[in-house]
Amino acid sequence: MSERAAPVPPAAPAPAALVAPPGLKGLIVADTHIGSVRGDEGFFHYRDRPAPAFAKNATFADGAALLIDGTDQRAPIAGAIASGRRLPAEVFAVLQAAHDRPLLAALRMVLPMLTEERATIDLTPDERRGDVLRTIGGIAAAAAALHRIRDGHQPVPSSDAGHVRDFLRMVRGDEPSASLVRAVERYMLLTLDHGFNASTFAARVVVSTGASVGSAYAAALGALSGPLHGGAPSRVLDMLRSIGEPSRAEDWATSALRNGQRLMGFGHAVYRSGDPRSALLKETALELGGELVERAEAIEGRILGVLRDAKPGATIVTNVEYYAAVVLHLAGLPQSMFTPTFAASRSVGWGAHVLEQAEAGKILRPSARYVGPEPPHPTECDEPVKVLSG
Ligand code: ACO
Repeated sequence: MSERAAPVPPAAPAPAALVAPPGLKGLIVADTHIGSVRGDEGFFHYRDRPAPAFAKNATFADGAALLIDGTDQRAPIAGAIASGRRLPAEVFAVLQAAHDRPLLAALRMVLPMLTEERATIDLTPDERRGDVLRTIGGIAAAAAALHRIRDGHQPVPSSDAGHVRDFLRMVRGDEPSASLVRAVERYMLLTLDHGFNASTFAARVVVSTGASVGSAYAAALGALSGPLHGGAPSRVLDMLRSIGEPSRAEDWATSALRNGQRLMGFGHAVYRSGDPRSALLKETALELGGELVERAEAIEGRILGVLRDAKPGATIVTNVEYYAAVVLHLAGLPQSMFTPTFAASRSVGWGAHVLEQAEAGKILRPSARYVGPEPPHPTECDEPVKVLSG
């Protein structure tokens, strides 16, 4: 027989909940020393350095030193990342076994294997940093190895070359030219970090629970894989192929919008006056030159015109992914490697945020407003909840 519970005393009034805007747009949820995006000004920075100017001449290791350690001491960090590129044998075995799965899904499987999968809550700051640097090296090497295996080739062993040169060698199987290394290095430097984007936020939520670095990276990679985030660049190339001649761009874009499609490589959640990453990548693409670059430039203006007419209230800019697709294609990377290459660069920002969040030591736990049918009041339930002591 059910015991009738004692009447529940009136609850103390809960503090008024704050209601976030749709998509959490404009909501500040943390303090960070890593960098920020000033959308209205078309500007972003890594720590105290304007990011586009930094990306023009720095190396990947400079970027990692700046974001992870806040220093310009690249040598020790370059060594740790290079040793992360030497994958353990059991990682190769899983990559072999999973090679026929979608590439990002297979990559996600091995991320937690790149370190000892220790809970960050049990680690010292130095140990966490070590796990992050191993993962930054490992994610590039694992993506490259997966591509080779899927293509029916042996993975290329890593070397002590600079991170971007070595990554390109391991993907392509030959020595890339200095101009291609520079172009991809710029792309990677421009995409190391970018505020509280969806994948970075996902990584921070996971590590806020004290979970391992590998778990945070696996969550971040899952978020990045979505076409509205890091999954866009290969679709940009599909779009350029499908449009073909620039003169067809307006009709193609109008019909795609009519069918409810998004035009990949355009629009941004924060930038209104222009995406500075797109400007430098366009410059980089024009330096490399060729038919695809000329066609992409001609199509870009036409698509922006269609979007201006279709969304008169919105300010839609060309985003980073548009010319990223062109640059990565010209660097000899296959489309399937576009998002993994993005992940290899963003792994630095994820790492910096993981370390910052772990130091903050506060679990991220927002609320949702229930908008479904009302349940009965607790005192009117057939089986009232017993409040147990102890
Ligand atoms: N194609 C079609 N419509 C668009 C596009 C686009 N590329 N971009 C924005 N819009 C529409 C939005 O749907 C919205 O329409 P609505 O008012 O009728 O709902 C309106 O324009 C205003 O959108 P914003 O508020 O400016 O952008 P939002 O934050 O909603 O979306 C997003 C940003 C997801 C990036 C969007 O622009 C998009 O889907 N772009 C295409 C995918 C893409 O290129 N992703 C890569 C982004 S960069 C990165 O993540 C690294």
